[in-house]
Amino acid sequence: MPREVRTVAVLGSGYMGGGIAQVFAAAGFTVQLADQSAEVAAAARDRLVAQSREFEARELFASGAADAVDRHLHAADSVEEAAGQADLIIEAVFEDVDVKSEVLERASAHARPDTIIGTNTSTISVNTLRSAVTAPERFLTIHFFNPAPFVPGAEVVASEDTDEAAVEAVVRVLERAGKRPAVVGDTPGMVVNRIQYAMVSEAFRVVEEGVASMEAIDTLVRNSFGFRLGLVGPFSMVDQAGVDVYAKCFGILRDAFGDRMAPPAALESAVAEGALGMKSGRGLLGEYDEDTRAAIQGYRDHAYVRMQGLQDDLGAPPSAGATQH
Ligand SMILES: NC(=O)c1ccc[n+]([C@@H]2O[C@H](COP(=O)([O-])OP(=O)(O)OC[C@H]3O[C@@H](n4cnc5c(N)ncnc54)[C@H](O)[C@@H]3O)[C@@H](O)[C@H]2O)c1
Repeated sequence: MPREVRTVAVLGSGYMGGGIAQVFAAAGFTVQLADQSAEVAAAARDRLVAQSREFEARELFASGAADAVDRHLHAADSVEEAAGQADLIIEAVFEDVDVKSEVLERASAHARPDTIIGTNTSTISVNTLRSAVTAPERFLTIHFFNPAPFVPGAEVVASEDTDEAAVEAVVRVLERAGKRPAVVGDTPGMVVNRIQYAMVSEAFRVVEEGVASMEAIDTLVRNSFGFRLGLVGPFSMVDQAGVDVYAKCFGILRDAFGDRMAPPAALESAVAEGALGMKSGRGLLGEYDEDTRAAIQGYRDHAYVRMQGLQDDLGAPPSAGATQH
């Protein structure tokens, strides 16, 4: 592994690659941006610098970030040229196994042996793509979310070959670039899309059953569990509300909708062991003493009030038909 990642090659200068390049350049990394030709990469660089200036003017980027992008972001003549200079390569070309494999093959053939190589695929298994990379112990998925400059999360997924040192190095680099990564296993859709799609699927069912309109669901989700989710993850939510409460509700939902809504086994075991969440001093995430409980409640109440203030400041989000008369 490289001793320190200083130069990042981003392969594919489209929507995601462009955003990823801005993230690293704004954070002071040297970025080599490549696409199908030198001309495409150069045009993308100009567009990204101009867009960064606009972001800074609108206070979406910190003061000085646009100059940093201008200084650190370079258009490479080719994938090979960019790869040859990089400590870390992030591939963000079309979501197609053949296109990705071909680009990864070329990149890994021209990269230093210790260069870490990541793919920003949204759906293709890291274990499918690894065969395209020479020395696959340095290869992994680094899944950013759209829009990359503004969404902090990133999923990091190792293949069966990936060296633990590469995973650790990538997590450190993402944190240096201001992201908040988590390492997860290789599963279709990775973790975020699996959970997100389960929610979207259920929302469609509710509409199909005539229980609520799409608009009503959007309003409710944004202002209920969606409102909380930026501050409290699902397992904290269960611990805060009560593990036994969730177990009972799951039971009722299973009676109505069948096994897809059955209480998860770990939830039932936690109830059987008396780990009922914050109120019992022990829950899914561990122990809660008095001070921890007070700190969580204090943080939560403050955060929710601030979140509502943010919603009030921003006003209702524009929606379809907002400009129609
Ligand atoms: N758009 C999203 O919301 C999103 C979110 C997360 C991950 N992703 C993933 O990111 C990747 C890129 O998606 P996108 O939305 O930026 O697509 P995009 O079409 O905007 O950009 C892809 C870029 O790759 C370039 N490219 C294609 N073939 C190439 C080649 N052989 N050599 C060099 N460059 C090549 C294209 O010219 C284009 O600029 C995909 O794998 C996608 O699944 C997308």
